Amino acid sequence: MNNIKLHDKVFEPYLDKSTIENRVLELSIDITKVYKDQNPVFLVVLNGAFIFASDLVKCLDFDCEIHFIKLSSYEGLSTTGDIKTVIGLTENIENRAVVIIEDIVDTGKTLYHLVPELKKVHPKSIAICTLLQKTEALTVDLKADFIGFEISNRFVVGYGLDYDNLGRNYPMIYQLKI
Ligand code: IMP
Ligand code: MG
Repeated sequence: MNNIKLHDKVFEPYLDKSTIENRVLELSIDITKVYKDQNPVFLVVLNGAFIFASDLVKCLDFDCEIHFIKLSSYEGLSTTGDIKTVIGLTENIENRAVVIIEDIVDTGKTLYHLVPELKKVHPKSIAICTLLQKTEALTVDLKADFIGFEISNRFVVGYGLDYDNLGRNYPMIYQLKI
């Protein structure tokens, strides 16, 4: 497997296609155990989670809904940095079992802000399913319920994840070469 170059940086192979595929199947089994009778709502966080979510939901054979949300960030309202607003949540999730599907939890700030936003509309439950978690990078008190891989702090691309908008299309995950 070859390195790839995106913009000015080189990335080396990290998680290959079959490793990801096997883990996604395992996650789907864990999710099925909990949610098969709950008709859950999967909220896919765009853009990064689109490939992971599409592979994951193809492994599920029970009633579920799949919706897509996006977080727009804008500056200046907080000294702690960007505040993100949720776009695209048009579905009524009141009293529904919600599972957020993310590509990666890094500092955790994105989901730390998203979860309370969703709680305002009173879902029955909220869980987080993330393909990747950079556990050492977490700066907030956040616990994902379903985690594909715990990885080191190094930047990753591929399988939906980008570096400055490039790299999402690769079927496996690459890590920044140092
Ligand atoms: P957090 O709010 O710091 O947890 O960041 C989460 C978001 O940052 C993810 O949904 C990604 O969009 C982006 N991100 C964090 N780390 C990486 C990475 O290594 N590669 C690509 N995107 C990343
Ligand atoms: Mg993302």
